[in-house]
Amino acid sequence: FPLLLPCFLFSTFIGSCAFVSLEDNSKFPRNFLFGTASSSYQFEGAFLSDGKGLSNWDVFTHKTGTILDGTNGDVAVDHYHRYQEDVDLMKDIGVNSYRLSLSWARILPKGRFGNVNKAGIAYYNRLINALVNRGIEPFVTITHYDIPQELENRYKSWLSSEIQEDFKYYADICFKYFGDRVKYWVTFNEPNVAVICGYRTGVYPPSRCSGSFGNCSYGDSEREPFIAASNIILSHMAAVDVYRTKYQKNQGGKIGIAMNAVWFEPFSNSSEDKLGAERAQSFYMNWFLDPIILGKYPAEMHQILGAELLAFSKYDSEKLKNGLDFIGINHYTSYYAKDCIFSSCEEGKGSSKTEGFALTSAQMNGLTIGEPSALAWLYVHPQGMEKIVTYIKDRYNNIAMFITENGFGTSENSYPTTKDALNDVKRVEYLNGYLDSLAAAIRKGADVRGYFVWSLLDNFEWKHGYSIRFGLHHVDFASLNRTPRMSAFWYKNVIEEHKSQA
Ligand code: NOJ
Repeated sequence: FPLLLPCFLFSTFIGSCAFVSLEDNSKFPRNFLFGTASSSYQFEGAFLSDGKGLSNWDVFTHKTGTILDGTNGDVAVDHYHRYQEDVDLMKDIGVNSYRLSLSWARILPKGRFGNVNKAGIAYYNRLINALVNRGIEPFVTITHYDIPQELENRYKSWLSSEIQEDFKYYADICFKYFGDRVKYWVTFNEPNVAVICGYRTGVYPPSRCSGSFGNCSYGDSEREPFIAASNIILSHMAAVDVYRTKYQKNQGGKIGIAMNAVWFEPFSNSSEDKLGAERAQSFYMNWFLDPIILGKYPAEMHQILGAELLAFSKYDSEKLKNGLDFIGINHYTSYYAKDCIFSSCEEGKGSSKTEGFALTSAQMNGLTIGEPSALAWLYVHPQGMEKIVTYIKDRYNNIAMFITENGFGTSENSYPTTKDALNDVKRVEYLNGYLDSLAAAIRKGADVRGYFVWSLLDNFEWKHGYSIRFGLHHVDFASLNRTPRMSAFWYKNVIEEHKSQA
């Protein structure tokens, strides 16, 4: 009732007001999922155990110079052997969901060119059962960056349309073996980041880039990101089609994709900067969501890139549209976006085709939107959460959304003692601010159904190795002991408060 009153008064004057079915004082809907997120390569370790094949990340991290602290995910946080303990930690916090990813190379070491690894299936069965038995909903990502190296060796993975067949085959196996218990599927994690970092800047495998980007000297960065993106989009559509035609009716789950979603704030009120911010969004997130949901690439991409965009063939276009049940939003940061087409920009900035003349100029030195963090890309701007969720709600007709990741990275060097590392006040402030901002979006009508903190534990943070920590629990990487931080207790309270109100 208290929430409806202002809505009623407001609508009297304005003529419309979004209605949200929230109970009394509750900030979040009754069946809201509160969880933590993880991924196979960053958590599991056991990189060659029980028949697992090599993944692209195994190969990449074993090359000298690829990871800043020289480490790799061979052991990671050994979730493969310690998952029971980790499920206990989740239970202590009180989460009702856990986002994990499956290692493609653990299930199909050679892709569709080899056998299903039964030991891999058995591991995920053990983990999924442990969750389900404790009342924790598994929220499963099919691919979180790591793919069998075999697919890279055979046909250059995402650069070949052959991969669509492989992904479809793999997704089918996932639904078949785990779909009786898994009711939330995410096909891809952050394909926009995988493509930009893998095919433009070269800091992720297969390290392809050219020109002024990155430190690798091969690849064709103008075209390859678009080829890779289109193969990912069509692979997603193929997996969704398999799920809908063969499994969804009996299994009753939902399928979506998780995008890295940055809020781009126009740098000024000028219409040029507003268009610049819109372009940045189109070249970053809408690049994937528009074809999957609306059936075509954003208009800005067509206008700017012309034929270089490699528009879908007529045959492929028919496979697009309405291709998900929910959007997963990984939101961490906001940037200013400034126009670089109609106004002058610094030399070289915004000239990248992948980023559409806007994204690079969005991360402007000295003109950052919020407080900086230990990570060069992460600025603290809680309002961005409400804005990005509202933007997605408006653009895609308020389709169901989940915040599949939100979190704060720190560098241990900034803490004088371990005790200080456990008092992660900055992380608590960050999470609290972003969650409040999310609650505001929900109050105004956004259909957001869950929120996952990245991450349960400190883990392998890609090119930063173990030097950046995101965990609600501190991990001692020598002993692999886990210790809850202040943020773990904060999250427990949030969840308890929600339960008492919902
Ligand atoms: C997004 C990615 O999905 C995840 O793997 C990564 O660790 C976090 N962001 C933090 O950078």
